[in-house]
Amino acid sequence: MSDQRDTLQFRGRRGEDGTASRQEFEWGAQRMNTVAVTGATGKTGRVVVADLVQHGYEVLAVDIAAGPAERAWAQGLGVSLQCADLTDHGQAVDVLGDAESVVHLANIPAPGLYPAAHTLATNTAMNHSVFLAAAHNKLRRVVWASSETTLGLPFDVPPRYVPVDEDHYPYPTSTYALSKVLGETAAEQISAWSGIPFVALRLSNVHLEEDYALVPGYWSDPQARKWNLWGYVDARDVAQACRLGLTAPVTGASSYVIAAADTIMDRPSAELLAEVFPDVKLTREIGTYETLLSVRRAREVLGYEPRHSWRDSVKIREVV
Ligand SMILES: NC(=O)c1ccc[n+]([C@@H]2O[C@H](COP(=O)([O-])OP(=O)(O)OC[C@H]3O[C@@H](n4cnc5c(N)ncnc54)[C@H](O)[C@@H]3O)[C@@H](O)[C@H]2O)c1
Repeated sequence: MSDQRDTLQFRGRRGEDGTASRQEFEWGAQRMNTVAVTGATGKTGRVVVADLVQHGYEVLAVDIAAGPAERAWAQGLGVSLQCADLTDHGQAVDVLGDAESVVHLANIPAPGLYPAAHTLATNTAMNHSVFLAAAHNKLRRVVWASSETTLGLPFDVPPRYVPVDEDHYPYPTSTYALSKVLGETAAEQISAWSGIPFVALRLSNVHLEEDYALVPGYWSDPQARKWNLWGYVDARDVAQACRLGLTAPVTGASSYVIAAADTIMDRPSAELLAEVFPDVKLTREIGTYETLLSVRRAREVLGYEPRHSWRDSVKIREVV
C-alpha cells in the first residue's frame, strides 16, 4: 500500500486550501486505489474487504452495523470503518467523498426478511442514494451487488431456456428482486448522465467455506434447490468478481451473472434437468457438473474465473 502512496502527488486535499470539494490526485506511474465498500461488515462484505486489502487497495469500509465486534474486525485488517445509514443520501455523499470507486454491497440481502414493501423501499433508497452519491463525488467506478433473483427465481415457473444467462431478464418475482431490477435501471440512467461505468454483479447464492458442510444435505432431493437451478457462488469468487469489476474495460452500465463453475449437486447437470425441467430447452452442450447459471459473459468481459467449489471441502458420496 505504502509504495502505491509514494508515487502519488497531491494537488489539493479537502479542507486544506478551502477550495477542493474532494481529494484531487495527480496519478503517478502507479495509481492509488481507494475503494469504499458498503455492507462491509456483512457476510460477503468481509470477504470482499479482505480480498481488496490483500490486493493492495486502500479500503474505506462502510456499514450501518459498526459495533465493537465489527470495529475489532476492521482494525485487524487495518481498515477504517465508518458507520452510516446509506438510505440517507447525505450520509452516502459524505462516506464516498474520499473514495476513488465504490463496491456497493449494502442492502437487505433476501426476500422474506422484512415486509415486502419495506424491502423494496429500503433497497431502492439505498441503491439510489449510493449511485447518486457516486455521481456527485465523481467516482471512477461503481461495482455493486445485483442478484440472480432478477432472472426469474424461484423457478416455480420453469426458465425459458438453460443455461440461464443475462438475457433471461427481467423476471423479478419478489420486491427484493424488483429492488435489484430498479437498481439496474437506475444504474443505466445515472451511468449515462455521469459517464461512470456501473458494473452490476448478479450474484448467485453466496456460500462461505463453512456453509459447505450443509451441501450433502441437498443431494437427496433435486426439487429442494431447483429454485435457483442448483446454483451457488463462493464468497471468495464474489470478491474476485468485485475486484475485476473495478478495472474491467467497460463503459456504461453492464450486468454479469456471478456463480460457481459447477452446481451444488453431486449429480450431472443434464440428469437434474431431465428429472426436474424435462421440457426446458438446453441451448448448448454443458459439462457434466456445469453451472446452469451461465458465467460466460463474466468470463469474457471481466476475466472472471470461479476458483472455489464445495468439492474442495466436501467428500463426494460413494456411489454403490
Ligand atoms: N447472500 C446471498 O446469497 C446474495 C445473493 C445475491 C445477492 N446478494 C447481495 O449481496 C449483497 C451482500 O449480501 P450479504 O449476504 O453479504 O448480506 P449481509 O446482510 O450479510 O450484508 C449486508 C450488509 O449491509 C448492511 N446494511 C443494511 N442496511 C444498511 C444501511 N441502511 N446502511 C448501511 N449498511 C446497511 C448490513 O448491516 C450488512 O452488514 C447484498 O446487496 C445482497 O442483496 C446476496
